[in-house]
Amino acid sequence: MAQLWGGRFKDKTDKEVYDFNASINFDKRLIYVDICGSRAHVKMLSKQGILTESDKNAILKGLDGIEEDVKSGKILITDEYEDVHSFVEAVLTERIGEPGKRLHTGRSRNDQVALDMRLYTRSRVAGTDNLLRTLLESILDTMKENTETYMPGFTHLQKAQPITLAHHYGAYFEMFRRDRGRLADLYKRMNECPLGAGALAGTTYPLDRDFTASELGFDGPTRNSIDSVADRDYLLEYLFTLSTTMMHLSRFCEEIIIWNSNEYQFVEIDDAFSTGSSIMPQKKNPDIAELVRGKTGRVYGSLMSLLTTMKGLPLAYNKDMQEDKEVAFDAMDNADNCIHLFTGMIKTMKFRKERMAKSAMNGFTNATDAADYLVGKNVAFRDAHRIVGELVLACIDKNKSIEEMSLEELKEISPVFDKDVYDAISLETCVGKRLTVGAPGKDAILTEIALSEDYLKSNPGL
Ligand code: ARG
Repeated sequence: MAQLWGGRFKDKTDKEVYDFNASINFDKRLIYVDICGSRAHVKMLSKQGILTESDKNAILKGLDGIEEDVKSGKILITDEYEDVHSFVEAVLTERIGEPGKRLHTGRSRNDQVALDMRLYTRSRVAGTDNLLRTLLESILDTMKENTETYMPGFTHLQKAQPITLAHHYGAYFEMFRRDRGRLADLYKRMNECPLGAGALAGTTYPLDRDFTASELGFDGPTRNSIDSVADRDYLLEYLFTLSTTMMHLSRFCEEIIIWNSNEYQFVEIDDAFSTGSSIMPQKKNPDIAELVRGKTGRVYGSLMSLLTTMKGLPLAYNKDMQEDKEVAFDAMDNADNCIHLFTGMIKTMKFRKERMAKSAMNGFTNATDAADYLVGKNVAFRDAHRIVGELVLACIDKNKSIEEMSLEELKEISPVFDKDVYDAISLETCVGKRLTVGAPGKDAILTEIALSEDYLKSNPGL
């Protein structure tokens, strides 16, 4: 039981209490950022004349050694220490003696942990951004190859109007692009350094907070020392963004599961991303898509958990805040993993283009275009809507699609129909004529693709 405190206590901490209080088992992943923070802190202390040059050098050398030995596995971070901060200080002091005991001058574990979480989260935000970028590249590749791959567009999961695969994927491109925008926003907002806030009220040592901030790549120091140690907004923003990304992935997965079903057969998920059944030999299940959809709830849970932890806390630091770690780490790990695996799954997924086009043709997806055709012949839209409604009823009766009806049959419904109607309601025309900004028509989707390409070029990452 190695602790950084104890002078004020007569008795030893109860073992169960010690274990309940300790965070080493989950905060050990902060070791490298903790060491980075300590390096910046001692450099600043010595620059300000608070620490001698030789103490600084001894500490820096000691920290380098700890970093190396943890990386190589020469020393293990074990639960005989209370938390990662205690571990570093204890090992340092054990190795270099007296100077190690000066490391914590002008610092509290409250601003230390606030810094560590920010540094760690900042690099995870950049990592998620990178994964999303790769996902967007893959979506864009599919868009480029499928500007003429027809499929039905749905509302209420009922066939609505024909679209293309490029257009459908374009919708997801927009969602993940917005997610990257949220990451970039929160990255900017969180990039302030809390080190130097002390326990909550700053310190009497003449710290140079601008120096440590710039050493650690921050835009500057946080402005209020109480807020510095009490704030976890940036983590909540990140968890919200991850939750939104998971929601997007989950919708995409839901569609892939439907497309991959025996009834649809629009896609075939690669063997490498499917699993079998222990009893039914014919099965090939879309487990990865289902698991991504399933893990979405768990990431939402982390957001709700931390929001709830924070809601009743008086200023400034409270030990409740230690609860930020397990849930946030779990969400980061799972969300990143989901983005990565999902990208692999869609990269290897095959489209059954003929089935998709066939499905786009039946189900009266060209009914709106038939009505628009009549409008072109001077029929008011409301009347055209009713006429085509009657036409659809007649088609259902005869078990035919609109384009399978003869001209005579069409004229029975309305004399306005002429032989040019067949061209007007063909799949190619239905999609090709939709040229408003953001629509599936070829020129419109090519513009969208070009804009998306520009976007990726000008947003390489954080
Ligand atoms: N393990 C603690 C945490 O994760 C570190 C900060 C402890 N500060 C304190 N005053 N007890 O929040």
